[in-house]
Amino acid sequence: MDVVRPNGPDGGMASRVRTLIGFGTDPLGFVQRRFETYGDIYYVKNARGGFYVMKHPEHIHAVLVTQAAKMRKEHSAFELLSRVVGDGLLTTDGDVWRRQRRLLQPAFSQARLATYSTAIVDEAVRMRDQLTSGQELDVSRAMMELTLRVVCRTLFSHDPRGETDDVANAMSALQDGVSTPDFLPSWLPTPHRRRFRDSVAAIDRIVYRMIGERRSGPAADDLLQSLITASDEQGGLSEKEMRDQLVTLFLAGHETTSHALTWTWYLLSQNPEAARKLREELDTLGGRAPTLDDPLPYTDMVIKESMRMFPPVYLLARSPAEDVEIGGYTIPRGTEIVLWIYMTHHDPRWFPEPERFRPERFAADNESKLPKNAYVPFGAGPRACIGKQFATIEARLLLATLAQRFAFDLVPGHRVAMRPRVTLNPKFGMRMTARAHANAAAAPARPLGASAP
Ligand code: HEM
Repeated sequence: MDVVRPNGPDGGMASRVRTLIGFGTDPLGFVQRRFETYGDIYYVKNARGGFYVMKHPEHIHAVLVTQAAKMRKEHSAFELLSRVVGDGLLTTDGDVWRRQRRLLQPAFSQARLATYSTAIVDEAVRMRDQLTSGQELDVSRAMMELTLRVVCRTLFSHDPRGETDDVANAMSALQDGVSTPDFLPSWLPTPHRRRFRDSVAAIDRIVYRMIGERRSGPAADDLLQSLITASDEQGGLSEKEMRDQLVTLFLAGHETTSHALTWTWYLLSQNPEAARKLREELDTLGGRAPTLDDPLPYTDMVIKESMRMFPPVYLLARSPAEDVEIGGYTIPRGTEIVLWIYMTHHDPRWFPEPERFRPERFAADNESKLPKNAYVPFGAGPRACIGKQFATIEARLLLATLAQRFAFDLVPGHRVAMRPRVTLNPKFGMRMTARAHANAAAAPARPLGASAP
């Protein structure tokens, strides 16, 4: 029986060339136009067969929630990523994934998050104390360093000082490697591939050093210790599995939050009214640094709206392990599905005037009226982000602590553009100038807690 497919580009050579050029020059605009042409689901033929592209909240709900048990992550989008993260939580399926998720879950419990919050604020205060008014910096690099320090300190009790440049460079090479189409024969040692391989090796060195230092040093009460304990048990985690989990958390745990914050600083610099309201809320703290118990609803709304406009994870991918029905179509097992959540977040049916930054969309009354899964920066269903609460608290506390004292103004002439790689990068970084608030400069800083281990 013939499979009825949704409309889509015809898959001929001319169409493939158009796709390559269109996607290469303006990926988001290109996909946007495809949805305008074909509707909420379209089908793209390619050399591997083809894939279904979706953005409607109901279809997202079907793929991620109601039909989740039939979905796998065996997707071409993950092939290269898997070479980096191996069989970590992000890429595994079935029983292996379930066992891994159970093992990692306690590190993200409420009790743990409460202890992490102190370290998060400490790190933000440390950075804030080093900033001076008028200082020009690449905010995307600074946020990357900050979130890397947070993840290393909270989950691994590790101080990455001296390693942040290595990690940032490796991350950039990995993103290039994973996102750049590569049509050359696999045995050819191109510079691009060498850079990719070297980057994996650099991350591996850091991770294996961390494991080695812990095994030979004192134990700690953290995620790294849980993994080591599990690996020491009979039939527990292998050394390779432990490495894969650590690399996964290392990568998934800092870059996403760093982009969320970078885009937030950018949006605040362009929206003085929102920046003023944010400051008003932070002024209620009276100069002391925020804690986990401080309700900061406007700060949360700003971050949510920023992740709507610039979702760090802008698309999700799955492959059904058996035939599934979605949106009136039978999607055969083994085909691929791409969920463009960036497009969902920019659809005027759910978010009127989608290009306007309006944190009020996420005031409790308004947010509760959004269709289910119209806003999914952390995914949904069983594979939703394990670090969602962690990242939410982290972004809130980092933003609040820094914004209490400083605003960041975009350096005149700096170009701002999105670059969708594995995550939604600021293509040219984010060059900004720190500006201390007039009355906040003298506010008492919260003393740094115990210094980073
Ligand atoms: C703003 C920050 C973050 C965003 C936007 C984000 C987004 C996401 C999304 C959309 C997924 C689902 C992927 C899918 O369905 O295929 C995911 C999964 C995951 N995230 Fe996050 N994430 C963030 C922060 C974090 C943090 C802080 C950690 C860890 C410290 C983390 C670790 C993971 C892991 C391990 C998974 C895989 C979960 C599984 O498959 O069971 N993420 N994240």
